Amino acid sequence: MPLQSSVRALKKPRLDDEVRFLRSWIEKPLHMGAVMPSSKLLARTMAEYVDVKAQGPVVELGPGTGAITNALIEHGVDQKRLVLVEYNPGFCALLRDRYPQAKVVQGDAYALRSSLKDVLDAPASAVVSGLPLVTKPMLTRLKLIRDAFMALAPGAPFVQFTYSVAPPIPKSLPGVSTEASERIWMNLPPARVWVYRKR
Ligand SMILES: C[S@@+](CC[C@H](N)C(=O)[O-])C[C@H]1O[C@@H](n2cnc3c(N)ncnc32)[C@H](O)[C@@H]1O
Repeated sequence: MPLQSSVRALKKPRLDDEVRFLRSWIEKPLHMGAVMPSSKLLARTMAEYVDVKAQGPVVELGPGTGAITNALIEHGVDQKRLVLVEYNPGFCALLRDRYPQAKVVQGDAYALRSSLKDVLDAPASAVVSGLPLVTKPMLTRLKLIRDAFMALAPGAPFVQFTYSVAPPIPKSLPGVSTEASERIWMNLPPARVWVYRKR
C-alpha cells in the first residue's frame, strides 16, 4: 500500500470516532462530558496504572469508542480480561465489533453492583474509568468508588481522569491511598489521572 493510503487508513477510524463522539456530545453533553476521545497520551497514562501481571478482570467504565481500551490492550492486558461497561448502545455495538473477545455490558456504571452482577468471575485487578464524574454530585461519585472497591481485589487501583484542577473524588478518604499523574497537556482539554487504592 502506498505510504499516503496507509496513513489515511490509519487515520480514518480515528476521524470516524471523533465524528461519532461529537454527535453523541451534541445529543447528550453531560453524559459524554467531552467533545473528543481521549488522546493517546492520556489513554496510555491511564493504562500504565494497570498491573498486567495481576490476575482477574479489568473493568473499564465509559469506554466510548475505545481510546483507553486500545491503550489497555497495547499495555498488555488480554482482551479476554476486559469488561467494558458502556451506557450508549451505539458505542456498545462498536465495542463488540472492535473487541470481540471482551465482555461488553450495556449498563449504567453508576449502578455498578447491578451492572456487574454475574459478570465478574473473580475480583477485578483494576477499574479504569472514563466517566465524566464531575458532572455528578459528590455522593454519586463516592457511591461509585465504594462499589468499585467492592468489585476490586485488595489494593487494586480505581483509575479516573479529570479535566478539572481538583481531584474528582477527595484525596483524603479514610483508608484510601491516592496518587496523581502530572497534568497531561497533550489532550483536549488537558487532563490529570487520579488513582485510588483501598489500603
Ligand atoms: C468522556 S467520555 C470517555 C470515552 C472514552 N473512555 C475516552 O476516554 O475517549 C464518557 C463515556 O462515558 C459513557 N457514560 C456516561 N455515563 C455513563 C454511565 N452512567 N454508564 C456507563 N457509561 C457512561 C459515555 O457514553 C461516554 O462513552
